[in-house]
Order: sequence, then structure tokens, then C-alpha cells
Amino acid sequence: MLTSYNLKMPGAVYGGENALHQIAGLIGDDVKRIAVFTDQGVAGAGLLEAPLEQIRKTGKEAVIFDDLAAEPTYEEAQAAADRFKDSGADFIVAVGGGSVMDAAKLASVLATDAYGVKELLDHPGIAEKYVRTLMIPTTAGTGAEATPNAIVAVPEKELKVGIVNDHMIADYVILDAAMIKKLPAKIAASTGVDALCHAIECFTSNKKNPFSDLCALQAFEMIMKNIEKACADPDALEEKQNMLLASFYAGVAITASGTTAVHALSYPLGGKYHIPHGVSNAMLLAPVMRFNEPVCRRLFAEAYDRLAPEAEATAEEQKSGWVVKRMEEIVERLHIPTSLKEFGIGNGDLDSLVEAGMGVQRLLGNNMRPVTAEDARKLYLEIM
Ligand SMILES: NC(=O)c1ccc[n+]([C@@H]2O[C@H](COP(=O)([O-])OP(=O)(O)OC[C@H]3O[C@@H](n4cnc5c(N)ncnc54)[C@H](O)[C@@H]3O)[C@@H](O)[C@H]2O)c1
Ligand SMILES: [Zn+2]
Repeated sequence: MLTSYNLKMPGAVYGGENALHQIAGLIGDDVKRIAVFTDQGVAGAGLLEAPLEQIRKTGKEAVIFDDLAAEPTYEEAQAAADRFKDSGADFIVAVGGGSVMDAAKLASVLATDAYGVKELLDHPGIAEKYVRTLMIPTTAGTGAEATPNAIVAVPEKELKVGIVNDHMIADYVILDAAMIKKLPAKIAASTGVDALCHAIECFTSNKKNPFSDLCALQAFEMIMKNIEKACADPDALEEKQNMLLASFYAGVAITASGTTAVHALSYPLGGKYHIPHGVSNAMLLAPVMRFNEPVCRRLFAEAYDRLAPEAEATAEEQKSGWVVKRMEEIVERLHIPTSLKEFGIGNGDLDSLVEAGMGVQRLLGNNMRPVTAEDARKLYLEIM
């Protein structure tokens, strides 16, 4: 247990029905021009209309960047930040998933000539906030609306790298289930399992603490109880609302604690092979949880008690085993790919994967059971 901990949160969070109606009131009189960050998938799904209608009420000019890259490289993030800087906008509304929100968070600290995103990869601490941000997530999700993190791909390292700086925490967040109502089931499934990973990893992290436990366990319970219905039934608005809230809680848990070996070993799969973040995490979830189980048994049993399933396990080992099995079952039932073969990755890629994965010590160091290179190799082999 850590002896000191803290909790940093977005300035204000609005949720529930018609939460989008808050937008105009959040944009201060001092704001001259509003930049709207989004991508083609979100814009194509017709999700910009409602936020834009609210933005128009401010009477202020809006510049729309609707072609942001999915899971951006650091250069793509820099290009978006440069265009933002040139636009003269002084407030950012991000409407999208983690990719869009991360680009927006970076742009908010890059409206300067003093440093670029490349410098932030090695020296994240130098970033300063230049403009305020409003995050409206359309996936449930990364929890990026809650965290001080922005993840970019670094092609020369064949990795994804998390840039962490408190200045990137959103000023405002709006959680409106209308934004995820039509989320395609496939994206809902993998992004939902990403949130599940955030919850269980933070709950079993070396950095866990009372603040992160509160949010991680709450998120874990809500996701385990809602994810299947939320993905399968387009009209399951209550379950979708629960997923949106849970992914926010799981993001808060990341801020207070930190993810572990699932995310660490997942980074090369995104960075080199461009497997979507939620999918690579979903693949690694069961193998890493089984690996961690002997060390995290008491915590998994606590998670079991929180779910209070009808399984009626009594021994700690039974409870723990049930939780790990149930997470695996959820990934299977949601039809998320579970093998790297589907992405053309085979044994020949193993050495470089292990090397890159072991490089993510920022997160591997959070894993309660130490992960050696040999362990990493076995874990990757499990999903070959
Ligand atoms: N900053 C953080 O704390 C944090 C945490 C976890 C992950 N991430 C990063 O976030 C990125 C992944 O974000 P993501 O999983 O939200 O996916 P995403 O933002 O990449 O979106 C995936 C796809 O879904 C589409 N989409 C999004 N919302 C939609 C909607 N409502 N309807 C229809 N289509 C929609 C997008 O257009 C895109 O094509 C990765 O780069 C990952 O590393 C960041
Ligand atoms: Zn994640």
C-alpha cells in the first residue's frame, strides 16, 4: 500500500439526459473561437450535430477539425496541434473516442513554440496548459476524458507511449449516453473491455490506494454487470449510460493508480501492428489475470464479493478463479479476436514483441507479480 496518494479530477463533469445542453454555458465570454476536434467515424455517425447546435448558441465562431487520425502517431498529433495553433482558437471541444480526446489534450498544451510533442515523449513534465478543454466521449471507453494521459504511437520504437501531465486533465466533461447510443457493437465491445482492463488493472496495481480502489471497484462492478447487454442491444440506454459512467470512473482510477501488465504488453501490439487498443488489451486480459492470480487472489476475491454473483463460491481461491474465468468468458462472448494470428503475427515476431513489451517499465512496474522477459514471452505465446 502506498503511503501517499492523490486524486486529480476534471474541473466539472456533467452527466445524464441532455447533458449536452450544458455546452454553451461552459464556454466563457472570454473565448474568441472554438475548435471542435473529431474524426470521420464520429462525424459520419452524425454525432457532431447536437454539440454543434449547442455551440452555435454561444454565437462564437467554430472551426471544425473532423479528419483526426485514429490512434495517432506523435507526428500526427503534432500536425493536429499545429493546425489548431494556426486557427487562432482558444477553446477545444473534443467529440470522439480516446484518439480524438488524446489529440485534443495534446493540442491544449502544444499551443506554444517552446516545445513539441516529440519533446514531451521524453520530458512530459514541461507541458503547460494554454487553452481550456471540454471532452465529450463517444466510446465507453478509454476514460481519456478523466485522465492526464495522452497515448501516441512512436513508429521508430514500434511502441505506443503514454505522455502524462496534469495540465492535460480536461476542464469540463460531458457524459451523455446519446453519444454512444449507435456505437457499432464491435467498437462498443473492445472499448468496453478496455475500460474493464483499466478497472481491474488499477485495482490490482502496486499503485492502488483508497481513491483508486473506490473508482476501480465501482467501475468493475458496473462494467461486469452491463457490458454484454450494452453491446448487444442498441436500445439498452440505461446499460450504455452505466458503461459511460463506468469508463469515466475507470479513467479516474488510472489517474489515481495506474494500469499494469495488460496495458504494458499491449503497447507494442498497437504501436507496431496497429491492433486497436481495446482489442489488444482484450486479448491479453485473461492470460495476464491468470498469471497475476496467485499474487492477487485476495483482491480478485474482493471483486467477487462486490459482484455478489449467484455462484456461491466460499473459498478465496474459488472466488478468485471465478472472477478471472468470467472476464475471459465476457471477452469470448463479445466475439473480440483472441489470437494474434488473425493479425498475421506469428512466432517470428516474438523476440521483438518481448523486447518492446519489456520496455514499458512505467506500467510493468505497477504489476504486483513481477514480469520477466521469459514471462512476457509465455504471455505473448498464449495469444499466438
Ligand atoms: N488518454 C488515456 O487515458 C487513454 C486511455 C486508454 C486508451 N487511450 C488511447 O485511446 C485510443 C483509442 O480510443 P478508443 O478506443 O476510444 O477508439 P477511437 O477513438 O480510436 O475510435 C475507434 C473508432 O470508432 C469510431 N467511433 C468512435 N465513437 C463512435 C460512435 N459513437 N459511433 C460510431 N463510431 C464511433 C471512430 O471514428 C474510430 O473509427 C488509443 O490511441 C489508446 O491508446 C487513451
Ligand atoms: Zn486502455
